[in-house]
Amino acid sequence: MLSLTNQKFIQQCIAPDCGAEFDLDARLFVCSRCGGLLDIERREKIDSAPLRELWRQRRTSLDPRDRSGVWRFREFLPFTEDTEVVSLGEGNTPLYDAPRSADYCRLPQLKLKHQGCNPTGSFKDTGMTAGVTQARKLGARLVVCASTGNTAASLAAYAARADLMCAIVVPSGHVSHAKLAQALDYGAKVFEVDGNFDTCMDQIRELAEDESVYLVNSINPFRIEGQKTVAFELAEQLEWRVPDHLVVPGGNLGNSSAFGKGFRELFETGLIDRQPKITVVQAEGAAPFARFYSDIEHERFVNDEHPQTLASAIKIGAPVSWPKAWRAVQETDGSVITVTEQEIADAKAIIGRDGVGCEPASATTVAGIRKLRINENESVVAVLTGHVLKDTDYVIKYHNGSLVAPDGRHLTPTFANVPIRIQSVKSVADLLR
Ligand code: F0G
Repeated sequence: MLSLTNQKFIQQCIAPDCGAEFDLDARLFVCSRCGGLLDIERREKIDSAPLRELWRQRRTSLDPRDRSGVWRFREFLPFTEDTEVVSLGEGNTPLYDAPRSADYCRLPQLKLKHQGCNPTGSFKDTGMTAGVTQARKLGARLVVCASTGNTAASLAAYAARADLMCAIVVPSGHVSHAKLAQALDYGAKVFEVDGNFDTCMDQIRELAEDESVYLVNSINPFRIEGQKTVAFELAEQLEWRVPDHLVVPGGNLGNSSAFGKGFRELFETGLIDRQPKITVVQAEGAAPFARFYSDIEHERFVNDEHPQTLASAIKIGAPVSWPKAWRAVQETDGSVITVTEQEIADAKAIIGRDGVGCEPASATTVAGIRKLRINENESVVAVLTGHVLKDTDYVIKYHNGSLVAPDGRHLTPTFANVPIRIQSVKSVADLLR
């Protein structure tokens, strides 16, 4: 067994002209000197030689930390061996071959990494296990977040496991019923605010200045640490041969930041020999990051005052983690693109036909891959971030042709599949019609 007790991590401001360092357990969410984002950095070199084998062995262990697809990679997490971990057995999500989606994207092959197969049905759990573990370590009593729904559901569940009070702030009327239902059932206090996600985020950031409150949005660097392990799990599933392209949806931009950090660390420690190009896909009506990318100067990040998309999970106009996501795109020679509401809806239906399914925000990936000019011999992994059952209203409306885009236009149900009303089913012919 490797000893984890000597590992040293710090928090460090990512702003190039600041770089301030802070103790790992300083209760900070941004740099207290310049307001920049914080990264968690290792201070000592790690011997990566035994790790692949150690991680493989843990797959047969019954230790709850080894059963978690996050804590199995704990050599790269900023916690010591004796930390009391708050886990729901997150991670260990499937990597599917998706022939119909590949065909749709005019590619011979496409793989889908389904983060919707996490305990609360979204990728948030891989970060939340680390964020809530740190909250408990710091002795927090109340954990909070702003959310478009999935962070809320995830935090509510992990807070319940950790016996912490939990308050979440969501934009009233803009969160899917399934996500709201989860948060309520897990016992969180849910506050519905007039406005959008960005309004909620502003309010919660102010409250988090109070010492008794612990903020667990993805601006919290411990969340990113948990989420980065998805890169490890994916690399392992591909026998340490990373794909040419990794494609993720972009909302608040925590996920793309985490993949960037995960692959960078794997590369720097020699566990992989190159990094995949990270492409971030945004909905056309909520695309401040794509605009920043397209502006050749890349000088000023301009928020979207009124983000609009039916993919409610990514209806975000002021993404807090954009500097980290930008670093990931630059370092990997990736890109940032947009897709329309129609493209998202059709791609989602195709992912369903592969027997996989996902929520609308996740389908931006396949819609985006179809638009990217990817070479036939390049390998591609799309990250599906949420489960199909997260937003069934959207699914039903798509198939029955009543899905209306924010601009008032009816979307075409290109791949519609509607229930057939029938008096009774009497023959096989009935079933085949
Ligand atoms: N996909 C889904 C299903 C999401 O719930 C989110 C974000 C994203 C993609 C975008 O990820 O923010 O890391 O770029 N949901 C957050 C929430 C904002 O509150 O649940 P990101």
